[in-house]
Amino acid sequence: MCGIVGYLGNKEKKEILLDGLQELEYRGYDSAGIAVIEGEKLNSFKAVGKLENLREKTKNFHTEHFGVSIGHTRWATHGKPTELNAHPHIGNYSYVVHNGIIENYQILKKALQAEGITFLSQTDTETIVHLFEKYHKELHDPFNAFKQTVQRLEGAYATLLITEADPETIYFAKNGSPMLIGFDGDEIYFASSDTPIIGKAKEVYYLEDGEYGFAKAGTVKLYNASGEKSFTKQALTKDKVLAQKEGYRFFMEKEIYEQSRIMGETIMGRVLDESIDFEELDKEFFKDIHALKICACGTSYHAALTASYLFERIAKIPCHVEIASEFRYKEPLLNKDTLFITISQSGETADTLEALKMAKRAGLRSLTVCNVDNSSIVRESDRAILTRAGIEKGVASTKAFATQTMVLWMLSLYVGQIKGMISKEVLQKEIAAMLHTPKALIVNDTLHEKIRRLSKRYLHGHGFFFIGRDLFYPLALEGALKLKEISYLHAEGYPAGEMKHGPIALADSGLFTVALMPKTLHYEKIKSNVEELSARDATILAISPEPFELADDFIQTAYDSHPMLEFFEMMIVTQLLALEISVRLGNDVDMPRNLAKSVTVE
Ligand code: G6P
Repeated sequence: MCGIVGYLGNKEKKEILLDGLQELEYRGYDSAGIAVIEGEKLNSFKAVGKLENLREKTKNFHTEHFGVSIGHTRWATHGKPTELNAHPHIGNYSYVVHNGIIENYQILKKALQAEGITFLSQTDTETIVHLFEKYHKELHDPFNAFKQTVQRLEGAYATLLITEADPETIYFAKNGSPMLIGFDGDEIYFASSDTPIIGKAKEVYYLEDGEYGFAKAGTVKLYNASGEKSFTKQALTKDKVLAQKEGYRFFMEKEIYEQSRIMGETIMGRVLDESIDFEELDKEFFKDIHALKICACGTSYHAALTASYLFERIAKIPCHVEIASEFRYKEPLLNKDTLFITISQSGETADTLEALKMAKRAGLRSLTVCNVDNSSIVRESDRAILTRAGIEKGVASTKAFATQTMVLWMLSLYVGQIKGMISKEVLQKEIAAMLHTPKALIVNDTLHEKIRRLSKRYLHGHGFFFIGRDLFYPLALEGALKLKEISYLHAEGYPAGEMKHGPIALADSGLFTVALMPKTLHYEKIKSNVEELSARDATILAISPEPFELADDFIQTAYDSHPMLEFFEMMIVTQLLALEISVRLGNDVDMPRNLAKSVTVE
């Protein structure tokens, strides 16, 4: 989703901005732009599409002296992905970049238009720059003009503003969307996450909601509603975990293959010989907790749904799961004996973050399962368990999902232990399966080749149904989501037993059914459901350790000893199937159209 980079100093600004934006590229965007003020010289460039287009446009532009600069990658929310709608947005003598959504922009825009101000774009962002210039005209003081502007904004924003009225300063404000400030001596960096500034800045300050201020002459002045505020910088990690394709065709493919290795890291020090341990947690944290509520979005929601089966079955604790964007507006009843769990690979998803804040306001204890340390959700939560998946670049999440599911499985045992709900035998059996998981995640070349070959038969049809029961229902949802995201074909996940209550009406040879048929969970039940579809001529791709004669295509899996081992093995099959179908359709596997990796708007 939208990315921000800013820089104040003597170095070549164009390169710092473009390299920084490149680091954020995997998050998804559809246009980009930069603006630089150096001395009296003011320059801005924008381009639709990939950053290469912006690089091409700026190839003869260089900066040599002290100056201020801001850059942005935009994922369209208000208005189409056009050059006019791309950031930075210009007033008469100022530029602004912004992530988030200004919820009251229409009211502000109308008022500004009534005063004769012309808007060039359809974006909410443009109101910020016009508002600033309006106040500047009235107050003749850029800082107070910016302060007044920020006070008028409602919604989520992280914004940077530069102006000819104060050409050596960058103004900033943050509320609800992430933003940090990096420091290296007199040089000051801004970014919406730390990757663009790693290796450049030495120290960092993560802005809190409601903070604003300005950077000038190597210092930063910070304010919030109570006035000027002091802040403490922290050391910024020096290691940029560079994600490379390492010979794979796509990041997503590499990430699928990587799952076996990183799962070893996820369980390291946590799955012990006779118990599960999380150094991030303790018994006290679960005192008087009698229920769990999990909130998440997208793939993380599917991990949450999987976990709800595990928590109730293993830890015997009630567990409710909700899509964060639904939870926020349903006026939920929250009890303090409920632990509020969020799941997020990015740690920045606006809906999940806001749901967490609501739960905190209601006095609930909070825990997050996240892949990004220091992300907004991690910082907002009482406790955090990191999934240790490493940077995931493919927009369609694979290894993040696998590691989230693993952490939640471990957590269900951990809670079961604390509550005394789990026998030694069950614990031993689960631990043995957990330790075996990295093996079950090894991608077998023959299997991959088989999926590649049969993918050619699944490029048309009037839709896919992924079906499963129990734990394999969330996996069916996730399999369908993976396919949708990167193939643009219609796919739905469904509980197999529910097909007869409606969807079976769609059954004919053009309906592709991907049936998840584990041996260890309700095999006979799902078999009957698939038979019902086969009898109506649906095309069946069955995935199972048990040969199934009614399948049009059959992928035999190896594990039949534990449901979670079957789960992870089948997860790989569905991921590879989506990948190979997408490749055959010629789609951009890693950066599918319209999607973003980190969704910082609600
Ligand atoms: C976006 C991503 C999905 C992800 C969802 C939730 O839509 O494209 O892959 O599942 O956001 O993100 P989170 O970072 O909270 O897991």
